[in-house]
Amino acid sequence: MSERVPDGGVPDDRVPVGVLVSGSGTNLQALIDAAAAPDYPARVAVVIANRRRAGGLERARAAGIPAVCIPHRHYEQRADFEAAMTEVLRQHGARWVAAAGFMRILSPAFLADWRGRVLNIHPALLPAFPGVDGQGQALAYGARITGATVHFVDEGTDTGPIIAQGAVPVLPGDDREALAARILAVEHQLYPLALRQAVEGRLTIEGRAVRVDAREGERNWIWGG
Ligand code: GRF
Repeated sequence: MSERVPDGGVPDDRVPVGVLVSGSGTNLQALIDAAAAPDYPARVAVVIANRRRAGGLERARAAGIPAVCIPHRHYEQRADFEAAMTEVLRQHGARWVAAAGFMRILSPAFLADWRGRVLNIHPALLPAFPGVDGQGQALAYGARITGATVHFVDEGTDTGPIIAQGAVPVLPGDDREALAARILAVEHQLYPLALRQAVEGRLTIEGRAVRVDAREGERNWIWGG
């Protein structure tokens, strides 16, 4: 794969990552912002949304990143939708895929194409409250502590090996929005860290756990938001 040479003429050896979004894209924004730091090892090479109205598309365009809408409804078969995504990801040289509020299940065939290089962020402390609306599930269940998890994607729903987690309290009077905002603040710290470790090859899956070759001072957990 050829190295991208940006306007300044200096070869860009940062690892290209494709980000999948369905919604507002605040996690995408956190990745874009992190990648603006000169020492960040990844760059967002392309953003794919399955919905035209996904705010993430606008965020990508504003940052000068290719933004592609692939509406899943245009495809009868999941395999064809995913093949279209893989084609666009490859066109842009993506070597990792980060799902960031992407509301479609990724099939085993897609995951096989990306050979363990797909990450996801979930708004709960997995394995608690997988699936849709992790924040609402935690509230309805009466949990006192919840949070966010970045994990490798496997064939299950939010079941893949855990890379990083952050915990926040569920406060009296919280509604879903208040809790979601508290969790998002943690998500925005966790995802850039986890992606950095992933692209630097510092994550090893051992059984269902992830061993992190952590740098000094690096913590794969956040306590209390
Ligand atoms: C986040 O809470 C994420 O954990 C979940 O969907 C939400 C996406 O938010 N998977 P945003 O689009 O990144 O703002």
